[in-house]
Amino acid sequence: MHGLIQPHGGELVNRLVTGAKLDALTSEAAGLTRIDMTPKQSCDLELIANGGYSPLEGFMGQADFQAVCKDMTLADGTVWAIPILLAVDSANAPKVGDRCALYAPNGVLQGVIHVEEVYPHDKKLEIPTVFRTEDDAHPGAAKVMQEGDTCIAGSVDVVTLCVDPDGPEAFMDLRLRPAQTRAAFAERGWHTAVAFQTRNPIHRAHEYICKCAQEICDGLLIHPLVGETKAGDIPADIRMDSIAVLVEKYFNHETTMVSVLPAAMRYAGPREAIHHAIMRKNYGCSHFIVGRDHAGVGNYYGTYDAQKIFDDIDLQSLGITPLMFEHAGFSKSFGGMVTRKSFGWDNKDIVFLSGTKVREMLAAGEIPPGEFTRPEVAKVLMKWAQATS
Ligand code: ADX
Repeated sequence: MHGLIQPHGGELVNRLVTGAKLDALTSEAAGLTRIDMTPKQSCDLELIANGGYSPLEGFMGQADFQAVCKDMTLADGTVWAIPILLAVDSANAPKVGDRCALYAPNGVLQGVIHVEEVYPHDKKLEIPTVFRTEDDAHPGAAKVMQEGDTCIAGSVDVVTLCVDPDGPEAFMDLRLRPAQTRAAFAERGWHTAVAFQTRNPIHRAHEYICKCAQEICDGLLIHPLVGETKAGDIPADIRMDSIAVLVEKYFNHETTMVSVLPAAMRYAGPREAIHHAIMRKNYGCSHFIVGRDHAGVGNYYGTYDAQKIFDDIDLQSLGITPLMFEHAGFSKSFGGMVTRKSFGWDNKDIVFLSGTKVREMLAAGEIPPGEFTRPEVAKVLMKWAQATS
């Protein structure tokens, strides 16, 4: 018998304050300088606090930021691919030694930062290294361009993880913290668990790669990202409904779990694949699915760039094992799901629909073919499309 994978850096961080400390922190916050966070910063704060970003205990300082951009590690050499920054307007920047209250976009107090460092936000370094483009049409790069020019770093103490427990995207029963998914895996007797990241309604190719991965590991964690996504992506509650109907009918409930990841998408493709893997390691997963154009957007990344990047990092230090899958689709001549590796790939033979095409079909009241989307999922999407068109 062996235990679950160790958290990144060795220990699961917990910056959520409870009991008397919580009361003291809340009263202190009322008298502190206020920082209003963006949705992305608020998601990051939740993941620092719940241990999803272990070993980070706060927003990154300059040495970590530079090492992440240049070498894909923290300053101490731990693999890390995405800067986790609290960037604010220079005019409102606090001083080293200050304590500031951090408010979520909906005005709820989320935590307090102890400011240990204040430094310029080097967007000229961050954007091309993280996104491999400086195009302001890239949604992740555009977000960084809009951020403040000064970064504040320091450890955080958090008052609340989910700032809007009654909101449509709170999913409180599925918003398990890393310690909770770890406990659930242990309870189910899983030693190995594979995580599936998604930000889209679940389709047949997703299902296929999940099932392939299930043959390798004790359990599967379907772990949709429900934090901030770009305009045009399907809302998280609809995506969650699509997963629920699929899992209900087509998955073995003993070997399949669903919970949500409260992270914001960066659309950083290859770098974000590593970032997604590290978070899932902290949630207790030993393996992580990386398929075609993982976390990609538009044509910024090659189909397999998010797989190739794992050649550039120390896999031993990463710890979690990436499971790479080629582009999968339903082959008419084969009569099932295939990849180039398993059967061959002829575009004319594969039932492929772009996200845009699917949305157009749904808006016109047309059900996408069963080879692309299970009918139960199509029904969920159709209801949403008709209600919003
Ligand atoms: S992502 O931004 O979360 O990567 P999406 O939800 O579409 O977007 O993808 C979830 C996972 O499924 C990613 O690992 C992605 O690479 C993989 N994937 C999506 N479509 C396919 C496909 N047709 N074939 C193989 N892998 C796929």
